[in-house]
Amino acid sequence: MSRLRHDGPLIIGGGLAGLSAALEAGPRPVLVVTPAPLLQACSSAWAQGGVAAALSAKDAPDLHASDTAAAGAGLVDLAAARALTGDGRQTVEWLAGLGAPFDRDDDGGFAVSLEAAHSRARVARVGGDGAGRAILSALVASVRAAPHVTVWENGRLRGLLQDDTGRVRGAVIERDGRLTEVLATAVVLATGGAGGLFARTTTPGALLGEGMALAYRAGAEILDPEFVQFHPTAIDVGLDPMPLATEALRGEGARLIDAEGRFLLGEDADADLKPRDVVARAVHAARLDGRGAYLDARTAVGGAFPHEFPAVFAACMRAGLDPRETPIPVAPGAHYHMGGIAAGLDGRTSLHGLFAVGECAATGVHGANRLASNSLLEAAAFGRRTGRSVAAETGGQGQARAGEGRPDLAPEALTALRVMMSDSVGVVRDAAGLARAMVLIERLEQEARGALPVLAARLITGAALERRESRGGHYRSDYPQTDTAPRHTRLRREPEPPTPDTMAAE
Ligand code: SIN
Repeated sequence: MSRLRHDGPLIIGGGLAGLSAALEAGPRPVLVVTPAPLLQACSSAWAQGGVAAALSAKDAPDLHASDTAAAGAGLVDLAAARALTGDGRQTVEWLAGLGAPFDRDDDGGFAVSLEAAHSRARVARVGGDGAGRAILSALVASVRAAPHVTVWENGRLRGLLQDDTGRVRGAVIERDGRLTEVLATAVVLATGGAGGLFARTTTPGALLGEGMALAYRAGAEILDPEFVQFHPTAIDVGLDPMPLATEALRGEGARLIDAEGRFLLGEDADADLKPRDVVARAVHAARLDGRGAYLDARTAVGGAFPHEFPAVFAACMRAGLDPRETPIPVAPGAHYHMGGIAAGLDGRTSLHGLFAVGECAATGVHGANRLASNSLLEAAAFGRRTGRSVAAETGGQGQARAGEGRPDLAPEALTALRVMMSDSVGVVRDAAGLARAMVLIERLEQEARGALPVLAARLITGAALERRESRGGHYRSDYPQTDTAPRHTRLRREPEPPTPDTMAAE
């Protein structure tokens, strides 16, 4: 194993959160490590919705914060939500300044649209459903032009380096089959979510909760890992991952129906814009009892589909389905992980030297259920805050224990885990299903000791088993009630004891 000393922050992840942090950390030298070329295999690039922010004259950051708190079902940290929504306009303007081509209204302001559980139209979009890719492309161009940022585009995070006090000193990175210990002033995890742990997901399959698992192993606090959001309208045409049919389609009046054309959530015009977990359960129930679930955009969108929702249109046409003429078959897919590494607004975790931002972090803004399109805002706004705070970190002196790689999970074991997670730790959970999932997890732990996806699955499943109520994205058919006093799940493992192979960090 070789060793490299980097005199600045090491950022793991090249999505919106990681790159926002990298840009803002300048002029400190920043090393960004991503497992795939920038813009690939990253959820931000796949986001269809946009950036939620109070941008219209009829809106205000406090209203946005109240909607965020209401969606989060009692577990939102209101101060964090206010900080997030207060950053809304300046974040959208910052992204626009970097070249993100947001849709504009007739007066040149940001055009905003309505998504579920928002009391105002406040989602700034790009080219209808192309927000994620367009925004991230602007950031990638800025990062490539920034002299303080170096990017390793084929580096995989394999471990964290800590000293005897537990302070994080760097990370083990695998490139071209070789391991390198990178010592840095701070490590920022911007590793994304855990959707790939589920067989039905709208996120890149490579996102297996590994950042959360490594942080947990290192002794960082994990917050509310049981809260996973399932998007109700993943397009069910046999693809893995499943293409998304953005919620904005329902904002435009597209309706959820069964195979007989009956409304799944009732006739009211806004019935399909209920909170995402409610809609996901209705879709799940219709599929389970054989009625089928479809998104009918024939009347509401019709001929405008190709130019108003080009990404969804292209995905449907690739699957041989013309959404102007045929309702789109849909199923709930794992879409966003609300829980994760407990982190402050500036990314600081409970472990000195370790920061987390974006979907792998749990900052308190999403609680038990994320409000649509708040995640791109969080990634950019808190990414910038994190960049500023890591830029001020110094250190990297002292001792770091030797790093180690973690074994991969064999493909067939990963498939079994993903199927189990979707079936038993999915939209509707109960004790029997969660216990079955735990049996599989324990078997896989024996077979692939230390495999990070299995540990991530354990954190999610174990916390889901312990939470004997239903709240936000976590629904227990055996405990359908919501407890009056909301409580968080906080998990923390004692750091591993020092080993004899402790080595000097310099
Ligand atoms: C969507 O466009 O439906 C997804 C937006 C989000 O998950 O924030």
